[in-house]
Amino acid sequence: MTDQALVNLAFEMHRYSYVPYSHFPVGAALLCADGTVFTGCNVENAAYGSTICAERTALVKAVSEGHRDDFVAIAIAGQGEDFCWPCGPCRQMLFEFAPNLHVLVARKGGDFVTLELSDLLPHGFGPKSLE
Ligand code: THU
Repeated sequence: MTDQALVNLAFEMHRYSYVPYSHFPVGAALLCADGTVFTGCNVENAAYGSTICAERTALVKAVSEGHRDDFVAIAIAGQGEDFCWPCGPCRQMLFEFAPNLHVLVARKGGDFVTLELSDLLPHGFGPKSLE
């Protein structure tokens, strides 16, 4: 799975985004070491704070199907002019399972940047912090 293919899967998830309030679809695609990909979209709610981001949708789908310690990369795709940077809670949730995750962040038009989760969440608090 190339980076570009993972980004493409994230963009394809816009079709399922439920965004009647923000009208801002976000898609995510989370790659596991065995090649399995879990996709996700944002799912909004009339009680706005109950909204679930695309990244957390993908992550929770993966964990609920037995994946925990084999995440390699996640692609996140938005339709804004700026890159679709993952929000704070999504960074934290990803850090729990994959502090060394590669993160591909895309924007309208399809171009994307690649960076590390540790760049987005330096000195993160995770399971090791509780030892
Ligand atoms: N959103 C995501 O899906 N992921 C992020 O990391 C940032 C924000 C969604 C939530 C909401 O449905 C919309 O983008 C606008 O905030």
